[in-house]
Amino acid sequence: MLILGIETSCDETAASIVRNGTEVLSNVIASSLDLHRQTGGVVPEVAAREHLRQISPVIDRALSDASATWLDVDVIAVTHAPGLVAALLVGVNTAQTLAYIHQKPLIPVHHVSGHIYANFIDRKEDPRFPILILTVSGGHNELVLMKGHHDFEVIGETLDDAAGEAFDKVARMLNLGFPGGPVIAKTAIEGRPDAYAFPRAQLDKDNRFNFSFSGLKSAVLREVKLLEEPSEKQIADLAAGFQMAVVDVLSDKLIAAAEAHDVSEIHLAGGVSANLLLREVTRQKLPENISLIYPKNLIYCTDNAAMIAASGYFLFQRHPNTDWDWKDVIVQASSRLT
Ligand code: KG4
Ligand code: ZN
Repeated sequence: MLILGIETSCDETAASIVRNGTEVLSNVIASSLDLHRQTGGVVPEVAAREHLRQISPVIDRALSDASATWLDVDVIAVTHAPGLVAALLVGVNTAQTLAYIHQKPLIPVHHVSGHIYANFIDRKEDPRFPILILTVSGGHNELVLMKGHHDFEVIGETLDDAAGEAFDKVARMLNLGFPGGPVIAKTAIEGRPDAYAFPRAQLDKDNRFNFSFSGLKSAVLREVKLLEEPSEKQIADLAAGFQMAVVDVLSDKLIAAAEAHDVSEIHLAGGVSANLLLREVTRQKLPENISLIYPKNLIYCTDNAAMIAASGYFLFQRHPNTDWDWKDVIVQASSRLT
Protein backbone atom coordinates (compact mmCIF):
# COMPACT_ATOMS: atom_id res chain seq x y z
CA MET A 1 0.00 0.00 0.00
CA LEU A 2 1.38 3.43 -0.96
CA ILE A 3 0.69 6.39 1.30
CA LEU A 4 1.35 10.00 0.36
CA GLY A 5 2.30 11.90 3.52
CA ILE A 6 2.03 15.70 3.74
CA GLU A 7 3.55 17.78 6.57
CA THR A 8 3.32 21.58 7.01
CA SER A 9 2.98 22.07 10.78
CA CYS A 10 5.92 24.47 11.18
CA ASP A 11 8.63 25.61 8.75
CA GLU A 12 9.12 22.46 6.63
CA THR A 13 6.96 21.87 3.58
CA ALA A 14 7.26 18.12 3.13
CA ALA A 15 5.78 15.28 1.10
CA SER A 16 6.75 11.64 0.95
CA ILE A 17 5.65 8.35 -0.55
CA VAL A 18 5.99 5.39 1.81
CA ARG A 19 5.18 1.74 1.07
CA ASN A 20 3.52 -0.29 3.81
CA GLY A 21 4.45 2.17 6.54
CA THR A 22 8.17 1.39 6.54
CA GLU A 23 9.73 1.68 3.08
CA VAL A 24 10.41 5.26 2.02
CA LEU A 25 10.21 5.68 -1.76
CA SER A 26 10.63 9.45 -1.69
CA ASN A 27 11.09 12.11 0.97
CA VAL A 28 11.02 15.74 -0.17
CA ILE A 29 11.53 18.63 2.25
CA ALA A 30 11.56 22.35 1.39
CA SER A 31 12.51 24.32 4.47
CA SER A 32 11.90 28.02 5.02
CA LEU A 33 14.47 27.96 7.84
CA ASP A 34 16.77 30.46 6.15
CA LEU A 35 14.01 33.09 6.25
CA HIS A 36 13.40 32.39 9.94
CA ARG A 37 17.10 32.62 10.81
CA GLN A 38 16.84 36.34 9.99
CA THR A 39 14.12 36.79 12.62
CA GLY A 40 15.57 34.37 15.18
CA GLY A 41 12.44 32.21 15.17
CA VAL A 42 9.57 31.01 13.00
CA VAL A 43 7.13 33.75 11.97
CA PRO A 44 3.82 31.92 11.35
CA GLU A 45 2.67 34.11 8.47
CA VAL A 46 6.01 33.83 6.67
CA ALA A 47 5.97 30.04 7.14
CA ALA A 48 2.40 29.80 5.78
CA ARG A 49 3.24 31.85 2.69
CA GLU A 50 6.26 29.68 1.97
CA HIS A 51 4.13 26.51 2.36
CA LEU A 52 1.71 27.90 -0.19
CA ARG A 53 4.56 28.54 -2.60
CA GLN A 54 6.18 25.15 -2.09
CA ILE A 55 3.42 22.64 -1.49
CA SER A 56 2.49 21.77 -5.11
CA PRO A 57 6.07 21.39 -6.42
CA VAL A 58 7.02 19.39 -3.31
CA ILE A 59 4.14 16.92 -3.80
CA ASP A 60 4.89 16.62 -7.54
CA ARG A 61 8.50 15.91 -6.72
CA ALA A 62 7.57 13.28 -4.09
CA LEU A 63 5.51 11.45 -6.73
CA SER A 64 8.19 11.67 -9.42
CA ASP A 65 11.06 10.68 -7.06
CA ALA A 66 9.01 7.57 -6.18
CA SER A 67 8.22 6.94 -9.87
CA ALA A 68 4.56 6.96 -8.84
CA THR A 69 1.42 8.48 -10.30
CA TRP A 70 -1.84 9.34 -8.60
CA LEU A 71 -3.16 5.92 -9.65
CA ASP A 72 -0.52 4.28 -7.43
CA VAL A 73 -1.38 6.30 -4.32
CA ASP A 74 -3.82 4.44 -2.04
CA VAL A 75 -4.21 6.88 0.82
CA ILE A 76 -3.24 10.49 1.68
CA ALA A 77 -2.09 11.24 5.24
CA VAL A 78 -1.73 14.83 6.44
CA THR A 79 -0.63 16.48 9.70
CA HIS A 80 -3.69 18.23 11.18
CA ALA A 81 -2.36 19.15 14.67
CA PRO A 82 -0.55 20.43 16.64
CA GLY A 83 1.34 23.26 14.96
CA LEU A 84 1.01 26.76 13.56
CA VAL A 85 -2.60 26.99 12.41
CA ALA A 86 -1.89 29.06 9.29
CA ALA A 87 0.84 26.58 8.33
CA LEU A 88 -1.26 23.48 9.03
CA LEU A 89 -4.14 24.88 6.99
CA VAL A 90 -2.04 24.90 3.83
CA GLY A 91 -1.24 21.19 4.14
CA VAL A 92 -4.73 20.18 5.18
CA ASN A 93 -6.45 22.25 2.53
CA THR A 94 -4.16 20.87 -0.16
CA ALA A 95 -4.66 17.31 1.05
CA GLN A 96 -8.43 17.73 1.16
CA THR A 97 -8.48 19.06 -2.38
CA LEU A 98 -6.25 16.27 -3.71
CA ALA A 99 -8.23 13.61 -1.86
CA TYR A 100 -11.44 14.96 -3.40
CA ILE A 101 -10.06 15.23 -6.95
CA HIS A 102 -8.33 11.85 -6.93
CA GLN A 103 -10.95 10.13 -4.74
CA LYS A 104 -8.50 8.87 -2.11
CA PRO A 105 -9.13 8.29 1.59
CA LEU A 106 -7.63 11.13 3.69
CA ILE A 107 -6.20 10.34 7.12
CA PRO A 108 -5.55 13.07 9.72
CA VAL A 109 -2.25 12.43 11.51
CA HIS A 110 -1.17 13.88 14.86
CA HIS A 111 2.28 15.42 14.44
CA VAL A 112 3.70 13.77 17.58
CA SER A 113 2.49 10.35 16.41
CA GLY A 114 4.43 11.10 13.23
CA HIS A 115 7.64 11.63 15.22
CA ILE A 116 6.95 8.37 17.05
CA TYR A 117 6.53 6.47 13.78
CA ALA A 118 9.85 7.85 12.46
CA ASN A 119 11.37 4.96 14.42
CA PHE A 120 9.30 2.41 12.48
CA ILE A 121 10.76 3.48 9.13
CA ASP A 122 13.03 0.72 7.78
CA ARG A 123 12.27 -1.39 10.85
CA LYS A 124 12.43 -5.10 10.08
CA GLU A 125 11.82 -6.73 13.48
CA ASP A 126 8.45 -6.82 15.28
CA PRO A 127 8.04 -4.11 17.92
CA ARG A 128 8.18 -5.31 21.52
CA PHE A 129 5.21 -3.48 23.04
CA PRO A 130 4.87 -1.74 25.39
CA ILE A 131 7.49 0.71 24.15
CA LEU A 132 8.43 3.86 26.05
CA ILE A 133 9.10 6.90 23.88
CA LEU A 134 10.75 10.17 24.80
CA THR A 135 9.52 12.52 22.10
CA VAL A 136 11.09 15.97 22.30
CA SER A 137 11.17 18.84 19.85
CA GLY A 138 10.60 22.57 19.79
CA GLY A 139 6.86 22.19 20.31
CA HIS A 140 6.46 19.14 22.54
CA ASN A 141 8.24 17.19 25.27
CA GLU A 142 6.53 13.98 26.29
CA LEU A 143 7.04 10.50 27.69
CA VAL A 144 4.64 8.20 25.85
CA LEU A 145 3.82 4.59 26.63
CA MET A 146 2.92 2.87 23.36
CA LYS A 147 0.95 -0.28 24.08
CA GLY A 148 0.30 -1.19 20.45
CA HIS A 149 0.00 0.58 17.12
CA HIS A 150 -1.72 3.92 17.70
CA ASP A 151 -2.44 2.97 21.30
CA PHE A 152 -0.70 5.72 23.27
CA GLU A 153 -0.68 6.87 26.89
CA VAL A 154 1.10 10.11 27.78
CA ILE A 155 2.76 9.44 31.15
CA GLY A 156 4.83 12.63 31.34
CA GLU A 157 5.00 16.05 29.73
CA THR A 158 6.61 19.42 30.21
CA LEU A 159 5.10 21.87 32.67
CA ASP A 160 6.60 24.82 30.78
CA ASP A 161 9.01 24.79 27.81
CA ALA A 162 9.82 21.85 25.58
CA ALA A 163 13.53 20.99 25.63
CA GLY A 164 13.94 22.05 21.97
CA GLU A 165 12.33 25.39 22.81
CA ALA A 166 14.79 25.80 25.70
CA PHE A 167 17.68 25.05 23.29
CA ASP A 168 16.31 27.72 20.92
CA LYS A 169 15.88 30.32 23.70
CA VAL A 170 19.29 29.72 25.25
CA ALA A 171 20.91 29.95 21.80
CA ARG A 172 19.25 33.34 21.41
CA MET A 173 20.61 34.48 24.84
CA LEU A 174 24.09 33.46 23.69
CA ASN A 175 23.67 35.08 20.26
CA LEU A 176 24.27 31.77 18.54
CA GLY A 177 21.41 31.92 16.03
CA PHE A 178 18.44 29.69 15.21
CA PRO A 179 17.58 26.83 15.52
CA GLY A 180 19.32 26.41 18.85
CA GLY A 181 19.75 22.64 19.13
CA PRO A 182 22.40 22.02 16.48
CA VAL A 183 24.32 25.25 17.20
CA ILE A 184 24.41 24.68 20.97
CA ALA A 185 25.58 21.10 20.43
CA LYS A 186 28.36 22.37 18.16
CA THR A 187 29.41 25.22 20.48
CA ALA A 188 29.38 22.88 23.50
CA ILE A 189 32.14 20.71 22.01
CA GLU A 190 34.71 23.32 23.10
CA GLY A 191 33.12 23.83 26.53
CA ARG A 192 33.23 22.17 29.95
CA PRO A 193 29.86 20.67 30.94
CA ASP A 194 30.71 21.11 34.66
CA ALA A 195 31.88 24.74 34.47
CA TYR A 196 28.47 25.85 35.79
CA ALA A 197 26.28 24.08 38.36
CA PHE A 198 23.01 24.38 36.45
CA PRO A 199 19.85 22.98 38.08
CA ARG A 200 18.30 19.64 37.05
CA ALA A 201 14.61 19.90 37.92
CA GLN A 202 13.60 16.40 39.07
CA LEU A 203 10.28 17.71 40.53
CA ASP A 204 8.14 16.15 43.27
CA LYS A 205 6.84 12.57 43.38
CA ASP A 206 3.57 13.42 41.60
CA ASN A 207 5.52 15.05 38.77
CA ARG A 208 8.40 12.59 38.61
CA PHE A 209 7.81 11.89 34.92
CA ASN A 210 7.05 15.53 34.06
CA PHE A 211 9.63 18.06 32.94
CA SER A 212 10.42 21.70 33.64
CA PHE A 213 13.12 23.73 31.94
CA SER A 214 12.18 27.26 33.03
CA GLY A 215 14.49 27.23 36.09
CA LEU A 216 17.41 26.06 33.96
CA LYS A 217 16.69 28.74 31.37
CA SER A 218 16.62 31.45 34.07
CA ALA A 219 19.87 30.12 35.56
CA VAL A 220 21.61 30.44 32.18
CA LEU A 221 20.19 33.94 31.71
CA ARG A 222 21.49 34.97 35.17
CA GLU A 223 25.00 33.84 34.26
CA VAL A 224 24.85 35.56 30.86
CA LYS A 225 23.86 38.84 32.52
CA LEU A 226 26.63 38.54 35.10
CA LEU A 227 29.21 38.08 32.34
CA GLU A 228 27.99 41.08 30.32
CA GLU A 229 30.32 40.35 27.39
CA PRO A 230 31.11 36.63 27.59
CA SER A 231 34.21 35.30 25.83
CA GLU A 232 34.05 32.44 23.31
CA LYS A 233 35.28 30.06 26.03
CA GLN A 234 32.59 31.24 28.46
CA ILE A 235 29.89 30.85 25.78
CA ALA A 236 31.14 27.32 25.07
CA ASP A 237 31.05 26.51 28.82
CA LEU A 238 27.51 27.91 29.14
CA ALA A 239 26.36 25.88 26.10
CA ALA A 240 28.02 22.72 27.41
CA GLY A 241 26.60 23.17 30.92
CA PHE A 242 23.11 23.85 29.62
CA GLN A 243 23.15 20.91 27.20
CA MET A 244 24.43 18.54 29.92
CA ALA A 245 21.66 19.64 32.33
CA VAL A 246 18.94 19.05 29.69
CA VAL A 247 20.39 15.69 28.72
CA ASP A 248 20.68 14.58 32.36
CA VAL A 249 17.02 15.39 33.05
CA LEU A 250 15.70 13.82 29.85
CA SER A 251 17.74 10.62 30.20
CA ASP A 252 17.14 10.18 33.96
CA LYS A 253 13.37 10.54 33.61
CA LEU A 254 13.24 8.31 30.56
CA ILE A 255 15.11 5.50 32.31
CA ALA A 256 13.15 5.85 35.57
CA ALA A 257 9.89 5.63 33.58
CA ALA A 258 11.17 2.65 31.57
CA GLU A 259 11.92 0.78 34.79
CA ALA A 260 8.61 1.76 36.41
CA HIS A 261 6.67 0.51 33.39
CA ASP A 262 8.82 -2.55 32.83
CA VAL A 263 9.51 -1.93 29.15
CA SER A 264 12.26 -3.62 27.19
CA GLU A 265 12.46 -1.08 24.37
CA ILE A 266 12.83 2.70 24.54
CA HIS A 267 12.79 5.18 21.67
CA LEU A 268 14.04 8.73 21.22
CA ALA A 269 11.98 10.82 18.77
CA GLY A 270 11.53 14.43 17.65
CA GLY A 271 14.06 17.13 16.75
CA VAL A 272 16.04 16.82 20.01
CA SER A 273 16.60 13.09 19.33
CA ALA A 274 19.23 14.32 16.84
CA ASN A 275 21.33 15.34 19.86
CA LEU A 276 24.33 13.03 20.01
CA LEU A 277 25.00 13.64 23.71
CA LEU A 278 21.41 12.64 24.56
CA ARG A 279 21.86 9.39 22.62
CA GLU A 280 25.23 8.67 24.20
CA VAL A 281 24.30 9.48 27.81
CA THR A 282 21.02 7.52 27.55
CA ARG A 283 22.93 4.53 26.23
CA GLN A 284 25.47 4.75 29.07
CA LYS A 285 22.78 4.89 31.77
CA LEU A 286 20.62 2.17 30.23
CA PRO A 287 20.20 -1.17 32.02
CA GLU A 288 21.30 -4.11 29.81
CA ASN A 289 17.81 -5.56 29.39
CA ILE A 290 16.46 -2.40 27.72
CA SER A 291 17.26 -1.56 24.09
CA LEU A 292 17.51 1.95 22.71
CA ILE A 293 16.23 3.00 19.29
CA TYR A 294 16.40 6.40 17.59
CA PRO A 295 16.11 7.49 13.96
CA LYS A 296 19.24 6.22 12.20
CA ASN A 297 18.96 8.96 9.62
CA LEU A 298 18.98 12.49 11.12
CA ILE A 299 16.45 13.56 8.49
CA TYR A 300 13.81 11.52 10.38
CA CYS A 301 14.48 13.31 13.71
CA THR A 302 13.26 16.72 12.58
CA ASP A 303 10.04 17.40 10.66
CA ASN A 304 9.47 15.33 7.54
CA ALA A 305 6.54 13.72 5.76
CA ALA A 306 7.81 10.12 5.68
CA MET A 307 6.98 9.88 9.39
CA ILE A 308 3.48 11.22 8.68
CA ALA A 309 2.93 8.63 5.94
CA ALA A 310 4.25 5.89 8.27
CA SER A 311 1.91 6.96 11.07
CA GLY A 312 -0.98 7.23 8.60
CA TYR A 313 -0.35 3.71 7.35
CA PHE A 314 -0.55 2.17 10.84
CA LEU A 315 -3.61 4.28 11.67
CA PHE A 316 -5.27 3.03 8.50
CA GLN A 317 -4.40 -0.58 9.43
CA ARG A 318 -5.89 -0.11 12.89
CA HIS A 319 -9.11 1.47 11.61
CA PRO A 320 -9.51 0.06 8.08
CA ASN A 321 -13.26 0.46 8.02
CA THR A 322 -13.46 4.00 9.34
CA ASP A 323 -15.11 6.24 6.83
CA TRP A 324 -12.28 8.80 6.78
CA ASP A 325 -14.14 11.87 5.72
CA TRP A 326 -12.20 14.98 4.74
CA LYS A 327 -14.77 17.06 6.60
CA ASP A 328 -13.56 15.41 9.84
CA VAL A 329 -10.07 16.82 9.61
CA ILE A 330 -9.73 19.40 12.37
CA VAL A 331 -6.81 21.79 12.42
CA GLN A 332 -5.59 22.67 15.91
CA ALA A 333 -2.66 24.65 17.30
CA SER A 334 -2.41 22.46 20.37
CA SER A 335 -3.68 18.97 20.74
CA ARG A 336 -2.66 16.18 23.11
CA LEU A 337 -1.64 12.87 21.64
CA THR A 338 -4.23 11.13 23.83
O1 KG4 B 1 10.71 18.11 15.36
P1 KG4 B 1 11.18 19.46 14.96
O2 KG4 B 1 11.82 19.60 13.59
O3 KG4 B 1 10.05 20.53 15.02
C1 KG4 B 1 9.04 20.54 16.01
O4 KG4 B 1 8.15 19.67 15.95
O5 KG4 B 1 9.19 21.42 16.90
O6 KG4 B 1 12.23 19.90 16.09
C2 KG4 B 1 12.91 21.12 16.04
C3 KG4 B 1 13.57 21.33 17.40
C4 KG4 B 1 14.20 22.70 17.55
O7 KG4 B 1 13.81 23.24 18.80
C5 KG4 B 1 15.70 22.41 17.52
O8 KG4 B 1 16.47 23.32 18.28
C6 KG4 B 1 15.77 21.00 18.10
O9 KG4 B 1 14.61 20.35 17.59
N1 KG4 B 1 16.97 20.29 17.65
C7 KG4 B 1 17.94 19.88 18.49
C8 KG4 B 1 18.96 19.31 17.67
N2 KG4 B 1 18.54 19.38 16.36
C9 KG4 B 1 17.31 19.99 16.38
N3 KG4 B 1 18.06 19.97 19.83
C10 KG4 B 1 19.17 19.50 20.39
N4 KG4 B 1 20.19 18.96 19.69
C11 KG4 B 1 20.14 18.86 18.34
N5 KG4 B 1 21.16 18.32 17.68
ZN1 ZN C 1 8.11 18.09 14.84
